[in-house]
Amino acid sequence: MQKKFTAFLFLLLLLAACKSSQKNTSTTPVINAYNYSGVKKVIAENGAVVSAHPLASKVGVEILKMGGNAVDAAIATQLALAVVYPNAGNLGGGGFMVARLSNGETVALDYREMAPGSAHRDMYLDANGNADTDKSQLGHLSSGVPGTVAGLFASHKYAKLPFEKLIQPAIELAEKGFVISASEARGLNNIKNDLVKYNTVRPVFVKNTAWQKGDTLVQKDLAGTLKRIQQFGAAGFYEGETARLITEEMKRGTGIISTEDLKNYKAKFRTAHSFDYKGYKIVGMPMPSSGGLLLHQMMKMIEDKNISAMGFHSLQAVQLMTEVERRAFADRAEYMGDADYYKVPVSMLTNEVYLQERMKSYDPAKATPSTMIKPGGLLQTESEETTHLSVIDKEGNAVAVTTTLNNSYGSRTVVGGAGFFLNDEMDDFSIKPGVPNMYGAVGGEANAIKPGKRMLSSMTPTIVLKDNKPYIVVGTPGGTTIPTQIFQTLVNIIEFNMSAEDAVYKSKFHHQWLPDEIMTEKGFPAAVKEALQKMGYSFSKERGGIGRTEIIKVLSNGKFEAVADNRGDDAAEGW
Ligand code: GLY
Repeated sequence: MQKKFTAFLFLLLLLAACKSSQKNTSTTPVINAYNYSGVKKVIAENGAVVSAHPLASKVGVEILKMGGNAVDAAIATQLALAVVYPNAGNLGGGGFMVARLSNGETVALDYREMAPGSAHRDMYLDANGNADTDKSQLGHLSSGVPGTVAGLFASHKYAKLPFEKLIQPAIELAEKGFVISASEARGLNNIKNDLVKYNTVRPVFVKNTAWQKGDTLVQKDLAGTLKRIQQFGAAGFYEGETARLITEEMKRGTGIISTEDLKNYKAKFRTAHSFDYKGYKIVGMPMPSSGGLLLHQMMKMIEDKNISAMGFHSLQAVQLMTEVERRAFADRAEYMGDADYYKVPVSMLTNEVYLQERMKSYDPAKATPSTMIKPGGLLQTESEETTHLSVIDKEGNAVAVTTTLNNSYGSRTVVGGAGFFLNDEMDDFSIKPGVPNMYGAVGGEANAIKPGKRMLSSMTPTIVLKDNKPYIVVGTPGGTTIPTQIFQTLVNIIEFNMSAEDAVYKSKFHHQWLPDEIMTEKGFPAAVKEALQKMGYSFSKERGGIGRTEIIKVLSNGKFEAVADNRGDDAAEGW
């Protein structure tokens, strides 16, 4: 009897397992956008997607089930995020994709926004030559020419399913609506005044009453734009009706993106920035993102220091990492910008002798003041609202995408009739080289505004290879904290032997050379903070959370451990 029962139970479990790994043969993913939830961690065999929103992660996995690969899933997930996560998911922004394909090829795709043709170096200076950060951060003039749609189509050459299929879930989410979470309601309520101020046509995001958790957000204009993209491809965005709506919006709001700017926008394939670390190959984004290069510098500056023996969150390890972060960010301010416009000395900055030289001033007993590292140059503060997604499939394709509008909800300007937010990415340029902006920080000449140039980014979509196979797929939002969060997440796994979950959830810290202070988040050990203060370190006000890291780690049994950050609504899905 006992045996029979066990066999029956086994059969039931088998059926359930088969059902959950069944391929979705329908043409559109079936997702309930009115009643859904997300999980933080999955272990999956066939593929996984981690993103900032449960619905977007579900869309990605459904695309995998329909026979798509990781690139298909990344495209569909980004399009879904453009609907369900308007803070940072976007059509009106830009991003970077790093991929490692099953044939061994690495791909680095740049779809960063670019400065409009009539942009110029001093465009954010007032009559007295002072930087006007209101104009670089809010409203029509703060927008660079959007790159996302061009990027999605450029990446599609590695996908398997027709683009029309990949965009369909986003169309349905926009057209039929989805139920918003408490944090989404809060986000929209917080920007209501800006939405009224910086829009010429009242967007759907403005309601007479406050948004509540459980409200349904329907975006008909956005659905229309998505349908034009579905019908006409990238031209459905950069030309025709959508381009007309964007340029008309610009005219109404004294912005400068022109028909020509839109038509001329091109996503660019670049050579990935790769380096070796203790037998791992780390693949990241080159300029115009500083992420890959900063990560390279930081990892190499600790490589010979036996950090694992120091221990996680030990005084020694935190101090060493802080000093490393300080030195890398000093280089960022001076040397990094769009390499198509400015000669970035990448080989010098990653030369082992140079990095050893940088560490000569490192003293394990006390803080090195930032003034001693590089006087003069200053650093730009970036907004922290960006979003990352990590995807992997059973064929061996891995994709890391970080995409952004810059600020949360970008410029706060929604294109009238087209329903999507425009970025305020122009603020990622040094709006006045050499002079601090209203936040006390700027960048250098390398990142000065020029027409067609792409503003320096910190986004760090990263893939780590072990034995020449994808091992970790990772990235996070967080402005200038992005490279340091990825640095710490990788050190947590590679050096401190942590699970993906711990590597992401454990409290992080950040130093960016200027301001000369350590930023910590909730949970940072008080005793270490106190000891560091005694060594001469200053701290900024503690923050609730730093970053929202989405990670997939390939386990030794070949399964995928997909972990979504617990600092937001982020969700992992797999099958
Ligand atoms: N706007 C954030 C970044 O690109 O780093």
